Amino acid sequence: MKMTDFVNEYAVDRLKTNSLKWDALDVRYGDPDLIAMWVADMEFKVPKEVQAALNDRVNHGVFGYSYTPDSYYQALINWQQKRHHATIQKDWVRFSTGIVTALYWFVNIFTKENDAVMIQTPVYYPFHNAVKDNNRQLVTSELINTDGSYTMDLADVEAKIISEKVKLFILCSPHNPVGRVWTATELEALLAICHKHQVLVISDEIHQDIVLGNRQFISSLSIANGKYQDNLIVCSAPSKTFNLACLLNSHIIIPNESIRAHYDVETNKINQTETSIMGQIACEAAYTHGEDWLEGLLSVIEFNFNYLKTELNQHAPKAIVTELEGTYLAWIDLRAYVPVEETKHFIQDKCRLAIDFGEWFSDECQGFVRLNMGTDPKYVKAGIANIITEIHQL
Ligand SMILES: Cc1ncc(COP(=O)(O)O)c(C=O)c1O
Repeated sequence: MKMTDFVNEYAVDRLKTNSLKWDALDVRYGDPDLIAMWVADMEFKVPKEVQAALNDRVNHGVFGYSYTPDSYYQALINWQQKRHHATIQKDWVRFSTGIVTALYWFVNIFTKENDAVMIQTPVYYPFHNAVKDNNRQLVTSELINTDGSYTMDLADVEAKIISEKVKLFILCSPHNPVGRVWTATELEALLAICHKHQVLVISDEIHQDIVLGNRQFISSLSIANGKYQDNLIVCSAPSKTFNLACLLNSHIIIPNESIRAHYDVETNKINQTETSIMGQIACEAAYTHGEDWLEGLLSVIEFNFNYLKTELNQHAPKAIVTELEGTYLAWIDLRAYVPVEETKHFIQDKCRLAIDFGEWFSDECQGFVRLNMGTDPKYVKAGIANIITEIHQL
C-alpha cells in the first residue's frame, strides 16, 4: 500500500478516546497541549480486515471464555515463517496479556532474589523495572555509541556475566531506543556468550516487524540454525506492529521442553487469566490479512524518519540522529545544543512536545530524546519545525 493511501485511509485523531498517549498528557507531563510523540503507540487504525473481524464479534455480542483455535496458531506460524524465516511449533507457544507482564514473570520464575539480571542500556525502561521491582540485581552493559551508531560491548557483557554471576539476560531485538536491527553475527556472538556461561536469554522481539530499508530481521530462534533454542525464550506480539496493545494478547515462545515445563508450573501459580478473545481475533486477522497495511505503515515510518533526519541535518547539523534500522522510535542526541539539565524545559516548554527522555533508558543518556515516528507525518513536520525554530533561538 502506498504511503499517501495509507495515511488517507488509516490516520486518525486520538484525542478524547482515553488514549494514554494523548489524553493523559496532563497527568504524565503536566501539560495537556503538547504534541504527543512519546509512548510507542500510533495514530493509525488497524487494517480494515482486523476491524471487520472485531466488528463481527461485537455484533455477535458474546464475550465469554474462549479457546485458541488451530487457525490462530497457523496464522502465527505462517507469519513467523514468511516474514522472518523463523520456524516455530504450536506447542512452543504460550500467551500473556503483554510482554512487560511476561518479563516480570520470567524474572520471578527463572531467578531468585538478589540474582543478577543483565540488560544492554540504553533500553526500554520496563526492562530495568522488571529487575529492580523484583529485588534482583540489575547489571547493565552500555551499548557503544560511536557518533550515534550503536554496537554491543561483548567484552563487557562477558566480563560482567562472569564477575556478577548473571543468571538471566534480557535482549531487545530490534532495539528500543537505538533502532538497531541486530545482525546474525552480533546475535550469534551474544547468544554464544550466554550459552557458554549458562545464562538464560529472553529475546524481546516485539518490534520484529518494523524493519526499514531492505534489512532483514533475524530472530534469535534462527541463529546458527536454531543452535541456541535450548537456552532461549522469545517474546513477540502483534501489538506494536498493528497498534493492538490494549487488546492484551502477546506470545511467549519456548522451544525447550524442560524450560517450558518449568514455566508452565510456575505461571500456573500466578496467572489464571484466559486469553483475550478480541486480541485473539485481531491478531489472527492481522497475521492473515495485514501485510499490505504493514507495507503502508513501513513507508510512512520511513518517510517520517527521513524527513526528520534531512531537516535536522540541514538546519540543526549538530544534533546527532541515530540511523533508524528498526522500530518506529527515532533517537536523537541534542547535547551539542541544549545543556542536559535543560532538555526537559527545551523540549516541553519551548518545542511543545511530549517525548521520551534519554535518562529514562540509561543514566548515561540525559540530553537524548526519543521521538515516535509511527504517526501522521503532519505531527512529525510540526514537531521538527518546533525543534529547529527553538534551536535557532538558543
Ligand atoms: C521492547 C519493548 N518490549 C515491550 C513493550 C511493551 O509490550 P506490552 O505492551 O506487550 O507490555 C514495548 C513497548 O514499547 C517495547 O518497546
